[in-house]
Amino acid sequence: MCGIVGYIGKKKQAAPILLEGLEKLEYRGYDSAGIAVINNGEINFAKAKGRLRVLSEKTNGGKDLIGCAGIGHTRWATHGEPSDINSHPHLSQSGRFAVVHNGIIENYMELKEKLIRKGFEFISETDTEVIAHLFEYYYKGDIMDTMIKVIDRVEGSYALGVLCSDYPDSFIAVRKASPMIIGIGNDENFVASDVTAILKHTRQVCYVEDNEIVVLTADDVKIYNTDKEELEKEIKTIDWDVSAAEKGGYEHFMIKEIEEQPKAIRATISPRIKDGKIVLDDVSLTKDDIKNLRKIFIVACGSAYHVGVVGKYVIEKMCRIPVECVIASEFRYSDPIVSKNDLVIVISQSGETADSLEALKVAKNRGARVLSIVNVVGSAIANASDDVIYTWAGPEIAVATTKAYSTQLTVMYLLSIYMAEKISTITSGQYKKYLEDLEKLPDLVAKTLENKEQIAYLASKFYNCHSIFFIGRNLDYAVSLEGSLKLKEISYIHSEAYAAGELKHGTISLIEDGTLVVALATVDDLFEKTVSNIKEVTTRGAVVMGLTTEDRSMTGIADYTIQIPNTNDIFLPSLTVIPLQLFGYYVAANKGCDIDKPRNLAKSVTVE
Ligand code: M6R
Repeated sequence: MCGIVGYIGKKKQAAPILLEGLEKLEYRGYDSAGIAVINNGEINFAKAKGRLRVLSEKTNGGKDLIGCAGIGHTRWATHGEPSDINSHPHLSQSGRFAVVHNGIIENYMELKEKLIRKGFEFISETDTEVIAHLFEYYYKGDIMDTMIKVIDRVEGSYALGVLCSDYPDSFIAVRKASPMIIGIGNDENFVASDVTAILKHTRQVCYVEDNEIVVLTADDVKIYNTDKEELEKEIKTIDWDVSAAEKGGYEHFMIKEIEEQPKAIRATISPRIKDGKIVLDDVSLTKDDIKNLRKIFIVACGSAYHVGVVGKYVIEKMCRIPVECVIASEFRYSDPIVSKNDLVIVISQSGETADSLEALKVAKNRGARVLSIVNVVGSAIANASDDVIYTWAGPEIAVATTKAYSTQLTVMYLLSIYMAEKISTITSGQYKKYLEDLEKLPDLVAKTLENKEQIAYLASKFYNCHSIFFIGRNLDYAVSLEGSLKLKEISYIHSEAYAAGELKHGTISLIEDGTLVVALATVDDLFEKTVSNIKEVTTRGAVVMGLTTEDRSMTGIADYTIQIPNTNDIFLPSLTVIPLQLFGYYVAANKGCDIDKPRNLAKSVTVE
């Protein structure tokens, strides 16, 4: 969703750096953008609806806005349509303050009415403009005091970057439940929504916690609490290769990230298997804790939720503990029956998804123990959890997740085997075999990726379909959910995933001559059952693309067959998903869609 970049230096012009940083945040999703720069105590700004290119043209690549300090923003509209006026930065009435904001101010109507009564005029429909005017309303000459007053008055989530014309050599920032990191350079410092925006300039970063106030000058960064006490913060070094956040010759980030999956899965597994044992240093669950679990909840959104659906099958099979997988936005408002004997597993690539974060808080408030599976280090969900297992996928830029999904699955396997061994629901022989098979997974994923040509061919045949169904049973059903989401989010083709046995209870009425059904039949003991369901749809005119393991034939059953390598049933989802990711990708490519930035979507969904 919205992206923020702030820059302050001594010699370099801020505006081109801001534009470049915003470009790196484009993947988060946006519909307008703006920058403000301070020069000799005067704030100048430019805003534009549409792509960053428009803003860049409007400002001559940033050269028209002079000054060594500034703030920039990409906006994903919530309050008010995408327009120049509603774009950030928003200025206070006198122009003394310029504000960029990521998040939502929940009590903005009440504040707006108050400010209108005090004589302030609003020109936009946004919640953010309230903050700009509040700064002016409370300002008595001290920016820090004003920031403390403002954040005390606003309710909701925010990452804020604020310029004040009385402070030409600094700017101030704060966050609450919205992402923000600090970048520390030589004679220059940064704030940004995530590290990709500043990686070109510095690898030294500092993670800001809720309600910590950051004051940046070119030489220094100081962080305070709301009692104005300076805080000692740890500076961390980002070891990502810059190329990890670049396309590196690929046409899209999505295909690059699909190709990176063997490496990402290996990076997630390798450090956690030592001397034939799974070592999860960051997990404090003891054997007794696991034995005493009443229930496990898996809570997540989108693709991360789909990982949870696989996780339910895997944990229940291995550990014999009941698992409920719940969509985070539903969990939160369902008055869930969750308490201290329950484990809540929250899965999130970004670690910032508002629905998942709020669900986590509900679980914690009810006494449950929270373990999260997160990709972005130091993110809000990671910070709020009792235990965190990081996926080592590296930066994921494409909105449609691929390598994050695969590494989340990998962690799910590691965790399930780890717990099962602790409570002895698997034998030592099974444990050993699971680990052997798990360690082979990166190579099997690489082998599955070799089948790209066939998938590209099938995509070229079917990219004009109006509707595509994905069916499967158990684990195959779980992966169908992901295959269907991948396809629809980037190609805009209507698609649904159904448990294969459920079709005949209604949905089969949608099958007509030529409807494409992608049938997943990899799970060994359910193969024949799924074949029966395939027959039900072919009889009604469906064209079937069957997906099964290399030791099975679907000749005479499906019109086209995609085969994947064989492995232990529980690890098959890691392979089954690969052709489905590729299919979604190639279908979207054939249609000429904006694959990395699909319409209406954002990478990190920080609103409810
Ligand atoms: O960052 P998160 O993993 O919490 O994000 C959850 C979903 O928003 C995300 O998986 C979304 O569904 C992706 N666009 C799917 O490709």
